[in-house]
Amino acid sequence: ADSDPLQDFCVADLNGKPSLNGFPCKPASEVSSDDFFFSGFTQEGDTNNRFGVNVTGGNVLAFPALNTLGLSMNRVDFAPGGINPPHSHPRATEAGVVIKGKLLVGFVTTANVFYSKVLTEGEMFVIPRGLMHFQINVGDGKALAFTTFNSQLPGAVIFSSTLFATRPTIPNQVLTKAFQVDDDIINTLKSKLS
Ligand code: GLV
Ligand code: MN
Repeated sequence: ADSDPLQDFCVADLNGKPSLNGFPCKPASEVSSDDFFFSGFTQEGDTNNRFGVNVTGGNVLAFPALNTLGLSMNRVDFAPGGINPPHSHPRATEAGVVIKGKLLVGFVTTANVFYSKVLTEGEMFVIPRGLMHFQINVGDGKALAFTTFNSQLPGAVIFSSTLFATRPTIPNQVLTKAFQVDDDIINTLKSKLS
């Protein structure tokens, strides 16, 4: 989905001033083999958190050689029962493959149709661009997946945080009306998710 590149590569200078579409290039004289290889996926992520998930980003911010190349990856580790909570990527379609364990993967269309399947090792999924999706570990042990995106920086809108953990907070008047519930429910969600 990102723009096509106009040169072989443009390793990002992350300290440079970002332009409309990505980062300026580091001078070619400073580029070496090390720029094109990334070791950030070698370690299991720490899933000791409320969702039991850890997403390790392999996007342009972590791996600057991806700048202008229109793709990126994540490593996603799941504790037993862990969930990568409902979210969407405004700038990319996502594909993923389960490397270990058993994941229920689901997404919802703009017409509110829910598609889902339980996947095991070696199975692949696709999430059309911008649609809300999740993965939850429904196996007995840990699970591991790798995902890939047709953007160097797909962005993630995590719906629970987008609604209940903003700074400043969205007024309860909006959320009670939108969800048709009382203030106490909204306050509980805000306090649990903030
Ligand atoms: C999984 O949904 C991911 O965004 O890596
Ligand atoms: Mn995703």
